[in-house]
Amino acid sequence: MAAREPRLIRKIAELREALTLIRRERKRVGFVPTMGALHEGHLSLVRACKTECDCTVVSIFVNPTQFGPQEDFERYPRTLDRDLAGLRSCGVELVFAPEAREMYPPGFDTWVEVKGVSEPLEGVCRPGHFRGVATVVLKLFNIVQPDVAYFGQKDYQQALVIEKMIRDLDLPIILRVLPTVRESDGLAMSSRNSYLDPESRKQATVLWRSLCRAAECLRNGERRADVILREMRQVIDAIPNARTDYVALVNPETLQPVDAITGKTLAAVAVRLGKTRLIDNLLLEP
Ligand code: PAJ
Repeated sequence: MAAREPRLIRKIAELREALTLIRRERKRVGFVPTMGALHEGHLSLVRACKTECDCTVVSIFVNPTQFGPQEDFERYPRTLDRDLAGLRSCGVELVFAPEAREMYPPGFDTWVEVKGVSEPLEGVCRPGHFRGVATVVLKLFNIVQPDVAYFGQKDYQQALVIEKMIRDLDLPIILRVLPTVRESDGLAMSSRNSYLDPESRKQATVLWRSLCRAAECLRNGERRADVILREMRQVIDAIPNARTDYVALVNPETLQPVDAITGKTLAAVAVRLGKTRLIDNLLLEP
């Protein structure tokens, strides 16, 4: 049976009205926030939401406030028609795709800052990024008022920032964080992969390969973080084009560096290939 077309909504008031009716029927509302250019990683979240909730809301909004001045906001891929086709095949009910001025009208001046977990890793490389993320996600949560919200482990630190915000601000929302979906060669799916030319696309497996090297070191009995980090860096340094932003072994709750792998540890990498910046991570367990 052909799925029904999702309803595309551009205005906050219109979405609120649609959701009031849905909530009156005591339906469980699930929410998947995205910036569009949807791929199987996004769709895995959407499918989980469809399975676990009665009504699925997906937002598509390239949020200007989470991009730095030198970053790729202008050239970020925008593929609304294709996105809608993908969401239709998943049976999504509501798609919220506001204009920037609907979310940030003139005079907008309130910001959400989650300290602590937002500060290391991406926080160092992309100052202000998580402030933009937390602000837009809180706004979206307030507009949608979901029972459950879906995020990907691909952006591990982002999920942690949102988890902290939910806890600190007493938001009545269940957070679900789902595994990273990968291409067959291990590259984590990302809207930014479309920037890669064929040569860089081949080189882009270096993130996954460096994470796998860490897991391999661990299997071989190595526990010292400095030794494992050196091995991971060597994998990346073998690619002449690749610039490492960070390679890290951190506590998965605090994101603080560990000296030795004694319990669950997050391996996280950020690498630039030409102008394209990619991130990936892997949870290690000794
Ligand atoms: P975006 O990069 O579009 O990602 C939307 C959601 O999809 C995020 O939760 C992200 O972690 C998840 N995702 C991306 N790639 C994935 C993959 N390969 N496997 C599984 N999940 C994946 O993250 C954002 O947008 C924005 O920061 C947003 C939260 C929408 C706020 O603007």
